[in-house]
Amino acid sequence: MLVIGAGGGVGTFAVQLATASGATVTGVCSTSKVDLVRSIGAHDVIDYTREDIADRPCRYDVVIDTGGDRSVGQLRAALTSTGTIVIVGGEGGGQVLGLSRQLQAIALSPFVRQRLGVVFSSPRRTDLELLAVMLADGRVVPVVDRRFTLDEVPEAIRHLRAGRARGKVVIVV
Ligand SMILES: NC(=O)c1ccc[n+]([C@@H]2O[C@H](COP(=O)([O-])OP(=O)(O)OC[C@H]3O[C@@H](n4cnc5c(N)ncnc54)[C@H](OP(=O)(O)O)[C@@H]3O)[C@@H](O)[C@H]2O)c1
Repeated sequence: MLVIGAGGGVGTFAVQLATASGATVTGVCSTSKVDLVRSIGAHDVIDYTREDIADRPCRYDVVIDTGGDRSVGQLRAALTSTGTIVIVGGEGGGQVLGLSRQLQAIALSPFVRQRLGVVFSSPRRTDLELLAVMLADGRVVPVVDRRFTLDEVPEAIRHLRAGRARGKVVIVV
């Protein structure tokens, strides 16, 4: 599995959930997050500021994209012929509310052997119960970058938007 944006809020959970499920995970992140991504269990890390994912000969069964602006074509090129792409974030993905990659993936998926999809989080009790067990037994450890007070929310948003957050930022109420 390839997790793009592996050092971010979603990515740090994706890496841990995947490795806990037995997947072999390669994380993609910038230089400052390489050690973090390794520390949460990624078997391999691609520092995208030095190396492109296309430079690697290997193909992944699953690509989870939580960051960046790679086209659906670029993502598909990293995938096995019957693999699955899950696009989580949209902001870097072009026009139409930043959703152009998502719309393209949904439209293309029925016509290709690969599965191209998007995810919108919808908390389910059974999923949350499993997550609680994994948190309790330490298989998943939330990566918390910084804590902010309610008054500091604008600063927290600026911190997130600058891409500096390592894992999650927490607002203490
Ligand atoms: N669909 C849903 O239900 C759902 C739920 C939650 C979040 N989201 C969306 O998912 C996305 C990720 O959320 P998040 O909380 O994880 O954000 P985040 O913490 O900012 O993580 C995004 C990560 O992408 C990395 N990144 C930026 N450019 C990249 C590139 N070119 N290649 C590889 N990595 C790159 C950033 O760090 P580095 O560049 O330093 O590596 C950052 O760690 C956001 O768009 C958010 O809105 C969707």
